[in-house]
Amino acid sequence: MPSPRIAIFPGSFDPLTNGHLDVIRRTARLFDRVIVAVLINPKKRAVFAVDDRVAMITESCAGIGQPGQVTADAFEGLLVHYAARQGACAVIRGLRSGVDFDYERPRALMNAHLAPEIETVCVIGADRLAHISSRLVKEVAGLGGSVEGLLPDAIAQRLVARLRAGKSES
Ligand code: PNS
Repeated sequence: MPSPRIAIFPGSFDPLTNGHLDVIRRTARLFDRVIVAVLINPKKRAVFAVDDRVAMITESCAGIGQPGQVTADAFEGLLVHYAARQGACAVIRGLRSGVDFDYERPRALMNAHLAPEIETVCVIGADRLAHISSRLVKEVAGLGGSVEGLLPDAIAQRLVARLRAGKSES
C-alpha cells in the first residue's frame, strides 16, 4: 500500500477564520491527511494561547473529510524540519491575492532550497472569503463590529469575550 500523502497547513491561526477553513476543506480533497500546524512564536503577541488555537482548530475541523483526516498540532523552529518529521510531502499556503503570492514566493523558494523533497502547494480560496484575515477580524471585533460569517461561531464568541476582557497571550 502506498504511504499516505500528508500535507502541512502552517500558520499563526490567531484565530482560525472561515478563509482558513475553506483552504483546509480544499486541501482535504487532495491529500490523505492534513495537519493544521500552529507556529509557536513567543516573539509574536497573540490573542489566543497556542493550546487554545490548536483546540479551536480541532473542534472546527471535526466534520471535514474522513474522521481523523484533518488534525491540529503546534510546532516551533523551521517549518521544513517539522514537515519532514511528520513525513509530509507538501506545505499548503492559501492565496487570496497577488500580495499573498509575492509574500509566499520567496518563502516557498527558501523552503524548497532547504528541503527540495517538500513541495509548497498554493491553494486559491473562494473569492467571497478573500477579504478575511485573522488580523482584520481581530480589528473589527475589537472595535465592536460584527464578525458574523468571518469565522466559526464558537471562535467568534471566544474572540469577542477575550477582546472585551482586554486579554492577550504573552
Ligand atoms: O499565518 P502566518 O503568520 O502567515 O504563517 C507564517 C508561517 C508560520 C507559515 C511562517 O512564519 C513559517 O513557516 N514559520 C516557521 C519558520 C520558518 O520555517 N522560517 C523559514 C521559512 S522561509
